[in-house]
Amino acid sequence: MYLKSLKIINFKNIEDAELSFSGKLNCFTGNNGAGKTNLLDAIHYLSFTKSMFNTSDLQNIFHGQTFFVLKGNFIKTKKTEIIYCGFEKDKKKTVKRNDKAYKKFSEHIGLFPAVTVSPGDSSLIGGGGEERRRYIDSVISQYDKEYLYELINYNKILSQRNRMLKNYSLNKYFDGDIADIYDMQLAEYGNKIFKKRKEFIKNLLPVFTEYYEKISNKKESVSLTYKSHIADSDFLMLLKSNVEKDKILGYTSKGIHRDDLEFKINGLSLRKSGSQGQQKTFLISLKFAQFGFIKKITGINPLLLLDDIFDKFDAERVGEIIKLTNNNFGQIFITDTDPERLKKIIRTEDGNFKLFEVTKGVITEKTDGA
Ligand SMILES: Nc1ncnc2c1ncn2[C@@H]1O[C@H](COP(=O)(O)OP(=O)(O)OP(=O)(O)O)[C@@H](O)[C@H]1O
Ligand SMILES: [Mg+2]
Repeated sequence: MYLKSLKIINFKNIEDAELSFSGKLNCFTGNNGAGKTNLLDAIHYLSFTKSMFNTSDLQNIFHGQTFFVLKGNFIKTKKTEIIYCGFEKDKKKTVKRNDKAYKKFSEHIGLFPAVTVSPGDSSLIGGGGEERRRYIDSVISQYDKEYLYELINYNKILSQRNRMLKNYSLNKYFDGDIADIYDMQLAEYGNKIFKKRKEFIKNLLPVFTEYYEKISNKKESVSLTYKSHIADSDFLMLLKSNVEKDKILGYTSKGIHRDDLEFKINGLSLRKSGSQGQQKTFLISLKFAQFGFIKKITGINPLLLLDDIFDKFDAERVGEIIKLTNNNFGQIFITDTDPERLKKIIRTEDGNFKLFEVTKGVITEKTDGA
């Protein structure tokens, strides 16, 4: 699958753009604040129906305007598919596939998959467990439609159980029969979610390690471990045996809502001991592995959006990443403030690339290339 062309009106600092892309490699250079990340975000919208920054749609309208429109022509299994995403102030966002509006945006997720690598990924290492859970959830829900539904149900029951526990601390009332029902439902959905998360990480792990070794030239060893309260206990039993503690705490202390991923480098915490370049190698390897995983499951090559990926890497690692981008992926969109670095990548391609310059929200294709 690839994005053949894209029309943008009033999206962030891009007022008007009509672009046609290479099915393989697309490079964007420009100064800080030019609009390179905004362009990748427009592509992200077409894939996920929202910004990669979790900002409100309103914030993404070109300042002073009242609407934005994004329209992409994708080629998927040799057919053209038109994805439209429009938002007007004080109105609902519309997403259409081939002129037919979606009732639920979740139906669109996963049909035109994309994997992004961006500076914001560092929150996966520096942030709390919630960030890492959100990451796992967003990947799994791209290929498993039931997963999102299970997750929504789990969270709904969890908040009901928590409300009951909180009430107990106020008026000492606790209905054991209702608690039993909540526990059974939590265990049912929780076990399903746990299995899927475990399976995902299990599949991701060997590919992730392989990428890390390639990029780092085996200079250091890393590990990624899925941590869950229910890894070696029965979830239902765990809820029951912790209920007295939960009543004092006023919330549910055990469950898959506390799952986490543990990242290590040479046996130590990646967050505390990894250098910036090592942390970035970790994240890129994770995202590249995610690409392989989605491709394996869906049979579709996701779009690969690489924002500022070379920053903080030494020349050796840049070289390895360039080699990897050359033959492992489908269509790639890559940004860099340094045109020379992008030209290095272009030189390894056999002509199937496009180079664009971004200046103050205006995107122009460069025909002089490398
Ligand atoms: N809704 C909006 N309307 C107009 N301009 C906006 C809007 N949202 C963001 N911008 C502008 O877009 C610019 C940032 O663009 P972007 O993040 O794409 O830059 P970049 O080319 O990726 O730069 P860098 O190299 O620093 O990453 C900022 O100057 C910001 O003010
Ligand atoms: Mg940027």
